[in-house]
Amino acid sequence: MTMTYYTLGNSGLRVSRLALGTMTFGTEWGWGADKATARAMVDAYIEAGGNFLDTADLYTSGTAETWLGEFIAERSLRDRVVIASKFTLNMDPGNPNGGGNGRKNIMRAVEASLKRLGTGYLDLYLLHVWDQLTPVEEVMRTLDDLVRSGKVRHVGLSDVPAWYASRAQVIAEFRGYEPISTLQLEYSLVERNIEHEFIPFGIRHGAGVTVWGPLGNGLLSGKYRPNAEGGEGRLEVMRGTNHPTFQKFSERNWTIVAELEKVAVAIGRSMAQVALNWTATQPGIASVILGATKLEQIKDNLGALDFAIPDELRARLDAVSRPAVPFPYSYFGPEIQTRVTGGLATGDKPAGYTRSVLVEGDPVNVAGK
Ligand SMILES: NC(=O)c1ccc[n+]([C@@H]2O[C@H](COP(=O)([O-])OP(=O)(O)OC[C@H]3O[C@@H](n4cnc5c(N)ncnc54)[C@H](OP(=O)(O)O)[C@@H]3O)[C@@H](O)[C@H]2O)c1
Repeated sequence: MTMTYYTLGNSGLRVSRLALGTMTFGTEWGWGADKATARAMVDAYIEAGGNFLDTADLYTSGTAETWLGEFIAERSLRDRVVIASKFTLNMDPGNPNGGGNGRKNIMRAVEASLKRLGTGYLDLYLLHVWDQLTPVEEVMRTLDDLVRSGKVRHVGLSDVPAWYASRAQVIAEFRGYEPISTLQLEYSLVERNIEHEFIPFGIRHGAGVTVWGPLGNGLLSGKYRPNAEGGEGRLEVMRGTNHPTFQKFSERNWTIVAELEKVAVAIGRSMAQVALNWTATQPGIASVILGATKLEQIKDNLGALDFAIPDELRARLDAVSRPAVPFPYSYFGPEIQTRVTGGLATGDKPAGYTRSVLVEGDPVNVAGK
């Protein structure tokens, strides 16, 4: 395949449209890969032209970062790859400052990640999860200090409310801090809620969306069936837990899986490839993070951008997966707009007129698309 690259958000950092996730590096969580498999997956990904590696301090209790650092060092790849890592989650039970988004934890966490990865800098450093507590001013000031100190190149946010991300970006702009270049969020045919707030925010304000969970934790590979136990994989291992990520078996999702299967057969591609292709080519998406536990899976997934989904088939996927439109978005349709415009049809602005319009070739949207 030919890997293509975008600059991430409004930054000058070039990332491949397919990233590689490391949450499955290690067997500590009961559904990961052993070291030889993890190494082989990194090799396959690099050979396919990928340059964007995603990790976090907590993944497999530190094993993911440690192995990733080793694999990169073995191949002398440090300056050729983009490493993203994250802080927030507590690895030191009983220590209230061993997690969270306060300055004390961020400063501790970055040192620990750099040590495990065996590197002097992170290309991207992300807040992992909103702690509902720490003022955004403290987070953005601390991240900016890390950029100025040379330990971090660019910064981002994952799993936060949109209003929080928006406030963070405004504070960065007005105070001259390093702005947010990426938002890392769950997005797939079975989870499209970020389309209401985050996609427009990311496109307008320079944050490319980096997607996690593009296969719905494996659901969209088609290996799970309604009312059937089995379907070897993470969702089966985690069946019965109440972690929100693993709640994927629902009537709605089975309908989406059934339509995806028909579309995949019509195109002659695996369901996983079609699901990944759909996600990667949606507006505002900068890069899709691939997750895998087996070498065959990553090889399959690396073929996800080698074809285009025909419009008619894409429309079927769009329709079956379209999320409900809650208020206030339900209030922005044509009925209300004609009242706004005094009955005149104003339509879209011409291509290139505004940075917020998705246009092929628009420098802003090439970055965020
Ligand atoms: N920021 C965050 O909060 C956050 C959260 C989650 C993940 N992430 C990042 O995003 C990455 C990807 O997330 P994810 O693992 O949830 O993505 P995903 O694509 O939704 O799920 C990946 C899992 O699906 C199964 N799978 C993948 N390809 C397959 C194929 N071709 N055929 C059959 N099964 C296949 C594998 O699990 P089984 O073999 O077990 O079925 C694989 O581990 C992670 O590694 C991590 O770097 C970030």
